[in-house]
Amino acid sequence: MQDQSPSPLMQLRQLVAGFANTNVIYTLVKSGVIEQLRDDSMTVDKLANECGLHADVLNRVLRYATGLGIVSSNADQFSLTEAGRFLLKNVPGSMYGGVMLMGGGPWRKSWDNLVLSLKTGESAFAQTMGTSFFEYLEVNPDHAKMFNDWMTANSAASARMIPDAYDFTPYKTICDIAGGQGLLLKSILLANPHLHGILYDMGKVVEDHILDEVAERVTAVSGDFFKSVPRADILMMKHIIHDWNDDRALQILQNCKKVMDNDTKLLIIERVLDGEADMGSLFLDLHMQVMNGSKERSAAEYEVLLEKAGLKLNRIIPTPSPAKIIEAIR
Ligand SMILES: C[S@@+](CC[C@H](N)C(=O)[O-])C[C@H]1O[C@@H](n2cnc3c(N)ncnc32)[C@H](O)[C@@H]1O
Repeated sequence: MQDQSPSPLMQLRQLVAGFANTNVIYTLVKSGVIEQLRDDSMTVDKLANECGLHADVLNRVLRYATGLGIVSSNADQFSLTEAGRFLLKNVPGSMYGGVMLMGGGPWRKSWDNLVLSLKTGESAFAQTMGTSFFEYLEVNPDHAKMFNDWMTANSAASARMIPDAYDFTPYKTICDIAGGQGLLLKSILLANPHLHGILYDMGKVVEDHILDEVAERVTAVSGDFFKSVPRADILMMKHIIHDWNDDRALQILQNCKKVMDNDTKLLIIERVLDGEADMGSLFLDLHMQVMNGSKERSAAEYEVLLEKAGLKLNRIIPTPSPAKIIEAIR
């Protein structure tokens, strides 16, 4: 049988036009077309009318999106596919926040300037926007809200898995360092009614917490992990160390060490790169470079970093999600 796969040149053409995929998805979300299709299929004319769009161009954009597997068409009706439904707001696994952040604005501009990272080794975001990403969030509350909501949505799957992957029974207190709105902490406290928690993050972030259900067992503390972190039996950081270059990550780990005794466990929840890293992890690795001048790390890199902070990598516990639990002790 003849090989039906696209020729190498054709594959390359599709890769080079990859920006069109992002733009089509982003545009359909941003213009409200995806939300219009939440409950029902619709004709192009009705969609164009409801969203105030040009019917002929919308038809061609939807035709392209059909090729991407985001929508499907039947007679003259378009509807969302199973993948397309993840673009809706407020559904389990929703990618809405990620699409809005990645598809436009400062994230997109920074990715357009990947070459700046390539030349300097520094964050493309900082070189493009004139400020570091987290400083930008402090003075752009709307963007900060979008980012924090996206972090919470993005954490939903792993937040459910961590309580099953790690035995919290021997401990009394846990601090989620830079825990965002507190979804992971909430999930651990709900699964462990004996535990008390501290949610630690920058000022405005903890004010927006979602911990009312476990409020009597939680204290929300605002602070800067470059200055200090609270004391607890378990110190946990999910998707924090990958935000920082080695020097800055070391400062955070050293501050953790200061409040750890021989029984304290430090749980660093991150992807751990290995030789066969998947494209999702490799994307995040570059995304960390672009946004923060940082990276995803291998087990060996975590071991070295922890050693420099005077800590020891005790074990790495897999979870059903791409994230692993790196357990460190003094
Ligand atoms: C990538 S998000 C991760 C949030 C959460 N742990 C999660 O996994 O969804 C990084 C978090 O670090 C917090 N952060 C950044 N700089 C900080 C600092 N200097 N002190 C405390 N928190 C900080 C941000 O506010 C944000 O919530």
